[in-house]
Amino acid sequence: MSTVAEIFKTMEYGPAPESDKEALAWLGKHERVFGHYIDGAWTEPGDTFDVVNPATAKVIARVTNGTTDDVDAAVDAAKRALPGWRALSAHARARYLYAIARGVQKHSRLLAVLESMDNGKSIRETRDIDVPLVARHFYHHAGWAQLLETEFAGYEGVGVVGQIIPWNFPLLMLAWKIAPALAAGNTVVLKPAEFTPLTAMAFAEIVDEIGLPPGVVNIVNGHGETGAAIVDHPDVDKIAFTGSTEVGRIIRKATAGSGKKLSLELGGKSPFIVYDDADLDSVVEGVVDAIWFNQGQVCCAGSRLLVQESIQDRLIAKLRARMERLRVGSPLDKAVDMGAIVAPVQLERIKGLVQQGVDEGATMWQPSWACPTDGYFYPPTLFTDVQPSSTIAQVEIFGPVLVAMSFRTPEESVALANNTPYGLAASVWTESINLALDIAPKIKAGVVWVNSTNLFDASAGFGGYRESGFGREGGKEGMWEYLVRSRGTGRAASRRVKQAPSRAAAGAKSAARGSSSESPAIDRTPKLFIGGKQARPDGAYTRRIQSPSGATVGESPEGNRKDIRNAVEAAHAAKGWSRATGHNRAQILYYIAENLAARADEFAARIDAMTEVGRRNAAAEVDASISRLFSYGAWADKYDGAVHNVPIRGVALAMNEPIGVVGIACGDTHPLLGMVSLVAPAIAMGNTTIVVPSEPHPLSATDFYSILETSDVPAGVINIVTGARDTLATVLAEHDDVDAVWYVGARDGARAVEFASASNMKRTWTFLDDRDWLDRDEGEGREFLRAATQVKNIWVPYGE
Ligand code: NAI
Ligand code: MG
Repeated sequence: MSTVAEIFKTMEYGPAPESDKEALAWLGKHERVFGHYIDGAWTEPGDTFDVVNPATAKVIARVTNGTTDDVDAAVDAAKRALPGWRALSAHARARYLYAIARGVQKHSRLLAVLESMDNGKSIRETRDIDVPLVARHFYHHAGWAQLLETEFAGYEGVGVVGQIIPWNFPLLMLAWKIAPALAAGNTVVLKPAEFTPLTAMAFAEIVDEIGLPPGVVNIVNGHGETGAAIVDHPDVDKIAFTGSTEVGRIIRKATAGSGKKLSLELGGKSPFIVYDDADLDSVVEGVVDAIWFNQGQVCCAGSRLLVQESIQDRLIAKLRARMERLRVGSPLDKAVDMGAIVAPVQLERIKGLVQQGVDEGATMWQPSWACPTDGYFYPPTLFTDVQPSSTIAQVEIFGPVLVAMSFRTPEESVALANNTPYGLAASVWTESINLALDIAPKIKAGVVWVNSTNLFDASAGFGGYRESGFGREGGKEGMWEYLVRSRGTGRAASRRVKQAPSRAAAGAKSAARGSSSESPAIDRTPKLFIGGKQARPDGAYTRRIQSPSGATVGESPEGNRKDIRNAVEAAHAAKGWSRATGHNRAQILYYIAENLAARADEFAARIDAMTEVGRRNAAAEVDASISRLFSYGAWADKYDGAVHNVPIRGVALAMNEPIGVVGIACGDTHPLLGMVSLVAPAIAMGNTTIVVPSEPHPLSATDFYSILETSDVPAGVINIVTGARDTLATVLAEHDDVDAVWYVGARDGARAVEFASASNMKRTWTFLDDRDWLDRDEGEGREFLRAATQVKNIWVPYGE
């Protein structure tokens, strides 16, 4: 007789395979070959490529490689479908999204098995995580569709959306893309990843089944070139991409200056931080979910284990014991922990990076058992003795490979966590809520999980900082990515009425006035304003500033690359500003307003001299600037985040954080108000700034120095460099220590800024110089506050 304990010890797992019968029947029905889904119909298969099951290395289907003609047809269908889709009531669109959610649930078994066969991930994950989250995403966004008109008043869908997705969560990434796009009233052309197209084909069938109008969702198969054809298509209004940072950078450059909206969800090297008071048994299970979930092919995988030195040995021992018991095997076996790697190329990449880790001197550990050899399997792998600067500590491996490093103090943990060009996610493990909520805001990442990891929900935004991309998916914050300010409302008409007098009219007026004594004398050469001090420009050049009618108004310094570098350094040194309270920032904005009001006449005279708009218009501009400063003083402590209603026992805190160092290149209409309208929201939200004022009319900015000096603005929060605006804006966009660039001006300048921004994937916000800054709807408010912030979602589960 054996005891229960003995039975447990000797008990072997038998195989518990999920049936693939239904999936095979579905593939058979399609004769295992697929075209594209365009305009509500399947195209004839063309030139095809193989779809391989990574667990068996066998070809299970073939799909068509999309040509530019295919992409043209799909975009054309989406464009034709757009007016009809838009004309539907929000409620009607909500019903369609709801029907898609129901369809996903009805076919959940087929989808889960198909996903597992196509990608190699375990059926446990596809069945319990991927597919339920897909349904949840469509349900949640049926809600946003329903509420579109009230919750996003003044906004409308951007138009035709091109979406390109990766292979690691094929159907889930499709849902993350399509659900918000449709909810916002857009039509879609989506390209699945070449390794994993099958669930997208099954999804097309669902869309067909529920009777979605033709052309609203189009799916084109293919490789990178097909994706590029979508990106380059002139009739596509927005690109949403998830994938490698390398391709993200290509897309950033390709869309630069096109006016296309862009969101990028790229790679990561996310820290998993364990403090000495953490519950180590929970930590071990957390690590399993962080890095061995989906074989580590997860953009937000907790791939860097940062552990407090005093508990390192204990944790590593526990981890190795747990790893020894993990099971790698057939993904359709309900009892395996890990399935197969998606493709040979990815397997080779993992092997190569592991070898590099060994070569660079780190200690590699793998369990004693061997992986199956009939497919592309790789065992869970742990590295210790890792140098923070080594390849495996810096490069995204995208496989089941964990690298461990240690730290002594919380400060050190933050420094180590942020020692990466990425900023997607982080996990923080401690029993002290005090410590957890102190650390979470200090980590440069879009998502922070406290005592948990890899939690996702449609109601909470997901997305990164820095080289992890920009934009959020999920939550209200994700909806904004698919919306633009309504075109064709009454505002365009009112703009024409309110527009400042034309150059010609202004010129005539000032000619009549002659060079009146109102113009200030040419009595001094202003300098630049850097780090709270007036600084001579590096090149020592100045330029003469003239009014439209040719009168000399003054001189301004010619800033160059070196001046921008100095200004960026000053802006960095001033980053303590982000920790000032909202109340404190408000006080300073009001103080600037007060000091400007005291000198309103002088500023109005200067505006008039530079632009010749007349004293009344100039005075109105100064008044509006004062009011604008008040608005952002008001917002500084009121632009709240949200607590997302996620389906866990806990909360997801969506916190608005400053972006960091923001470069601002101003337009030429309203030289003072145009500048204040951009700088005030940026600093109200805690950013520090480098401002390039209007090139022809820079003197309102140089006059502004003395206002700043008397308003308690900390040194370096606002730096001003005058000169060739487009050149200086491009220098800002190229600078790796600048986190965002705003540019107001012509298409060419916007293109240069967006192209250069690809160097560190900084956020850009560019628009044409045609805003009516005097109009409060157009010139201030939440649109500016959103641009000045990024949302960090901090997940805090609670309960024992
Ligand atoms: P990838 O970025 O090349 O592919 C992602 C998608 O982009 C696919 O649909 C692909 O066809 C498409 N694509 C490729 N080149 C394109 C182009 N020039 N224009 C438009 N679309 C294009 O990623 P890949 O090659 O599959 O994996 C390489 C590495 O990228 C992985 O080892 C991993 O480190 C990382 N990766 C990160 C992902 C994430 O979720 N953050 C997802 C997939 C890969
Ligand atoms: Mg690639």
